[in-house]
Amino acid sequence: MHKKIAVLPGDGIGREIMDGAIKVLDVVARHFGHQFDYEFALIGGDAIDQEGTPLPENTIKVCKTSDAVLLGAVGGPKWDQNPSHLRPEKGLLGLRKELGVFANLRPVTCFPDLAEASTLKMEIIKEVDLMIVRELTGGLYFGEPKGRQNENGEESAVDTLFYTRREMERIIRKAFELAEVRRKKVTSVDKANVLETSKLWREVAEEVSKDFPEVKLEHMLVDNAAMQLIRNPAQFDVIVTENMFGDILSDEASMLTGSLGMLASASLSDDGPGLYEPVHGSAPDIAGQNKANPLAMILSAALMLKYSFSMNQEACAVEEAVQQVLKGGYRTGDIAQEGTTILSTDEMTQKVVEYLET
Ligand code: NAD
Ligand code: IPM
Ligand code: MN
Repeated sequence: MHKKIAVLPGDGIGREIMDGAIKVLDVVARHFGHQFDYEFALIGGDAIDQEGTPLPENTIKVCKTSDAVLLGAVGGPKWDQNPSHLRPEKGLLGLRKELGVFANLRPVTCFPDLAEASTLKMEIIKEVDLMIVRELTGGLYFGEPKGRQNENGEESAVDTLFYTRREMERIIRKAFELAEVRRKKVTSVDKANVLETSKLWREVAEEVSKDFPEVKLEHMLVDNAAMQLIRNPAQFDVIVTENMFGDILSDEASMLTGSLGMLASASLSDDGPGLYEPVHGSAPDIAGQNKANPLAMILSAALMLKYSFSMNQEACAVEEAVQQVLKGGYRTGDIAQEGTTILSTDEMTQKVVEYLET
């Protein structure tokens, strides 16, 4: 197959880990007889510096005319004091909205060889295999009104949690579709004891569940969900939730895999190109040091192969290579354990490439 991929490395470790994903994809293309053409574009701080905006028009065009989009990470201290419209994160949110990728899938599985790298006990995490389905283009991130005010000397700020029924329905339906081919359980996470949006969310979840009689639906309040993720994470199959709850719970859940540097994500729309990015950010504390774990980015590329190109065998090959590297005792600093070999970002990528080639 011939595919065009938009590549947006972004800021900080984004560039370092993107190199790894491309190297891995090149091997996949060679092995399986595909052609991947990459078109690079600017986003985030990099785009602010070069074009004066975090999301240049050309970037949107490159993404919309590609079969899929790979993104590293955006953000960094250099731009932290910028006004809202000139923040790197604004570029990422704008891109998600432009592409209409409302469904953010964040799979969390325990890699057996990493179980001991987690701060949690092995017996708690060893059975973990869950999928967080985070609504990505609505909620508190986008609702209006949003902004700062100053009335008669009284300063205030507002963000709005707003969802239409249609926005709730399509993300909840996506969660049920995924659960149907997994362990047939959806946990809908909300704050229905307080929030109006959550009350409607529950109603919609109940309605959608009628179309999936084989899938069990349970509701859980978000504060309890945060606790249950640490207490007994193996109870979860698919978790579906609104944008900000999903953001927070997925960073929490990343520790079940041993490190944020392991967690990949796929963001899907109903028709256009999917967006694939690691869950972590630009990690300014280790940027430019060739220390970052490239596996979340590489696994995000594997999700692209699976969800956008239906290349299941190819995706499995990449995932298998990652497992083998971990089994071989190779680690980046974030997942280091006693008796393992610590590698740089580039060396880790090289190991994945070697396993893929054998
Ligand atoms: P972060 O995810 O960048 O880093 C949190 C911690 O995890 C840091 O200690 C970092 O070193 C570590 N870490 C993250 N990814 C790693 C990897 N691949 N390998 C090894 N260690 C890794 O979160 P933060 O520090 O809160 O945010 C930094 C910047 O990134 C901010 O500007 C934030 O807005 C941005 N951010 C961007 C995205 C994105 O582009 N999708 C996601 C989250 C945060
Ligand atoms: C993520 C990030 C982003 C989000 C930020 C950088 C806007 O934290 O992808 O999880 O909150 O969605
Ligand atoms: Mn986040």
